[in-house]
Amino acid sequence: MILEVIILAAGQGSRMRSTLPKVLHPVAGKSMLSHVIDLATAVASDKTHVVIGHGADQVKSSIPNSTVQWALQSEQKGTGHAVAQALPAVSDDAQVLILYGDVPLTTPETIQKLVSTSANKANTEQVTLLTVELDDPNGYGRIIRNNSDQVTAIVEQKDASAAQLRISEVNTGIMCVSASALKRWLPKLSDNNAQGEYYLTDIIAMAVSDGVAIHVCQATEPMEVQGANNRIQLEELERFYQRRYADKLMLAGASLADASRIDVRGSLTTGNDVYIDINCVFEGEVTLGDGVRIGPNCHISDTKIASNAEIKANSVLEGAVVGADCSVGPFARLRPGTILAAEVKIGNFVETKKANIGIGSKVSHLSYIGDAEIGRDVNVGAGTITCNYDGVNKYKTTLADEVFVGSNTALVAPVSVGKAATIGAGSVITGNIADGELAVARSKQRNISGWQRPKKLARD
Ligand code: UD1
Ligand code: CA
Repeated sequence: MILEVIILAAGQGSRMRSTLPKVLHPVAGKSMLSHVIDLATAVASDKTHVVIGHGADQVKSSIPNSTVQWALQSEQKGTGHAVAQALPAVSDDAQVLILYGDVPLTTPETIQKLVSTSANKANTEQVTLLTVELDDPNGYGRIIRNNSDQVTAIVEQKDASAAQLRISEVNTGIMCVSASALKRWLPKLSDNNAQGEYYLTDIIAMAVSDGVAIHVCQATEPMEVQGANNRIQLEELERFYQRRYADKLMLAGASLADASRIDVRGSLTTGNDVYIDINCVFEGEVTLGDGVRIGPNCHISDTKIASNAEIKANSVLEGAVVGADCSVGPFARLRPGTILAAEVKIGNFVETKKANIGIGSKVSHLSYIGDAEIGRDVNVGAGTITCNYDGVNKYKTTLADEVFVGSNTALVAPVSVGKAATIGAGSVITGNIADGELAVARSKQRNISGWQRPKKLARD
């Protein structure tokens, strides 16, 4: 069976009150349209068409290097008209799965169920609808069934009679239809209805009169087929997505202090016995090994953290690699290119960038370590700064194994410090230091006896 997907994404979404086209609004850090395109890929679409209209250029450029086929619907004349714009590029013997660019959270499992219902009958023309039972069906097209429970039509809210409005089974909009039938039916649609639109849903009545079988597949989770028309619904989708992700993490062995206070915008992979405290945000690809503990209020993106490391409260990690048994934070900032070997300690108010730090080394307080190569068992004292930048170029600082850097040292790069060398506190190091040497580079202390401190005049 050839499966082609048509994603409807031409609508403006005026209720978003936004300059951004509706389908580009994000859920979990990714545009709704990207979620739907990924869904098409997940169900092995042979060709994916996206119908665009409002903000077409912006929508196109949001999905660079994509293999999707774009179809332009310059005027939004209804869902049937939208599908018709993509149809010329669809092969006659395909089954066409219709998805909506603003319905981002349908699972591949649900769509697979729909597609296999239609695949079983793919040798003859067919329509398979995804429907759902809603407590409040207001606003949706209602599924009309006859006495033998067969679907005979879909009636839009605005065209429905009082009795039809009481039907709780509604059209999700998602359906799978034989291309050959669509090609026959869509040119016959009329806009003679309450909204003056070409309704895709009118093909159901055409299927009935052509004797084409109509199958139904029911979605069990309404949020899976929920679209976002305004920012309240967008937030509902976000919370649903996050809760579903949190459940997945817990089932995979992570403990969450509060499943409603974690946000994953990307992918988070966790080992066993991971603990994540409240208000953490994960972005991009993050991996946490067994026994990792994340304190409250951490923001972690594109980072790998090995087993039993602990990230303490209020730390920000981006593009970092953290070794096993490390301790990072509270209030630490690891920037891209930070690579910590095992058992490294990074303390409060320490910023690192492009820094390779060896086993057991410590940068415990108030430091900036950038463009640095640091060996094992190095102690970097409080307030140490690598002066890596002259305003134009960046230079490297190298500290060999077992170096001891006294507090408040400025390491003016390029500079290299030999094995087990010691630097006196308050030094400005501008030249290399050999193995085992002590370097002190600070002005000598003068003591002046009998010094009279200036006195303040008495208060008036
Ligand atoms: C549609 C269905 C309704 C269903 C509901 C589910 C029709 C006639 N009605 O109604 O039965 O219960 O979805 O949410 O199909 N779009 C275009 N071009 C257009 C019109 C729409 O691309 O000319 C896109 C929109 O951007 C949107 C989707 O199609 O993503 C649905 O359009 P919308 O106007 O929201 O349809 P509903 O009236 O909600
Ligand atoms: Ca809608």
